Amino acid sequence: MTPHVTPAPGTDPPREGDTVPATPKDVKAIIRLVEEAGWAYTRAEVERLIAVQPGGMLLKRSTGFRHEVLGCVYASVWGRLGFIGLMLVKESLRGQGMGQELMAAGMAHIRSLGISSVGLDSVGNVVSFYSDLGFKADWTSLRFGLETARFDLPEAPPEVRRGGDIDLSRAIELDRTMSGLDREGLLRRLHADGDSTLLVVPTGKAVLAYGVLRRSKGCLRLGPLVSVQSEEGALAARTVMTAAIRETYPRMMTVNVPDYNEAMVELLVSMGAVSYAPCTRMYLGDPGRTRRPEGIWALGAAEKG
Ligand SMILES: CC(C)(COP(=O)(O)OP(=O)(O)OC[C@H]1O[C@@H](n2cnc3c(N)ncnc32)[C@H](O)[C@@H]1OP(=O)(O)O)[C@@H](O)C(=O)NCCC(=O)NCCS
Repeated sequence: MTPHVTPAPGTDPPREGDTVPATPKDVKAIIRLVEEAGWAYTRAEVERLIAVQPGGMLLKRSTGFRHEVLGCVYASVWGRLGFIGLMLVKESLRGQGMGQELMAAGMAHIRSLGISSVGLDSVGNVVSFYSDLGFKADWTSLRFGLETARFDLPEAPPEVRRGGDIDLSRAIELDRTMSGLDREGLLRRLHADGDSTLLVVPTGKAVLAYGVLRRSKGCLRLGPLVSVQSEEGALAARTVMTAAIRETYPRMMTVNVPDYNEAMVELLVSMGAVSYAPCTRMYLGDPGRTRRPEGIWALGAAEKG
């Protein structure tokens, strides 16, 4: 099916069936759609996603009286890798081609920015939807829930800096070096927004590890968590974990982990974290060294590389 192209400004208004970029006015309706699907996105998170990737949140809107979003996809570009997330169609409208149209529009958006390698995290039963489009399964993104109330409240690790006390540009540099992605705009926005905290372990003029802790619905979410690839870096990543547990206490913390980071998987299992609904990391094209980056202890949410 050929996707409708978003009309240029000054041309006809969107028709029923058009795929259009979201505006801040769509946030409420997007939240309604994702909540219907049981996904935990906050208003702040959706607003941030729209702000950091102009034109990347694509929608099918109802043209009826009620402002309703019928389907969405988030097509993002982080440096040389594109990413597809938030792929969702209203349950009563599935199986009629809307998902394929949204994917086509999302991929067209990414390609229009000159990017040909695209990643995504697929939930288990949707892998064939993406493989039919040429995506190939690579590794597994494990999801864990950790009840922090089961521990005694840990001491705040003195090595971890937060808030105005951090060297943001060095954390961004570490993220770029290790992940191979350019998430500067996102990290600056997360640092500025009140619902998220950057936790950073500095050393001299560099950063050994950083993590983002973000308020989500009923829990806090840790990720990305990135360190240099060394024993010192691994220790720093664990220290960020301790600081994150302290800040989350006594709530639930969720974290997505690449299965090949065995140290992080072992750490979480030893803490009694519960694994649920793993996802399959899939790629289209050649993501080069961003395919399986080292030093990644926790992933950003599915739509953020
Ligand atoms: C996945 C989803 C977005 C697909 O949207 P959709 O509008 O139903 O998809 P389409 O009608 O465009 O289907 C396109 C093709 O994919 C197939 N397909 C659709 N949903 C599928 C699924 N869950 N698993 C496997 N294949 C699927 C269809 O059979 C169709 O194939 P065909 O052309 O050979 O008949 C939709 O089912 C959905 O919102 N699911 C719940 C949320 C979700 O899991 N999102 C993905 C997160 S990674």
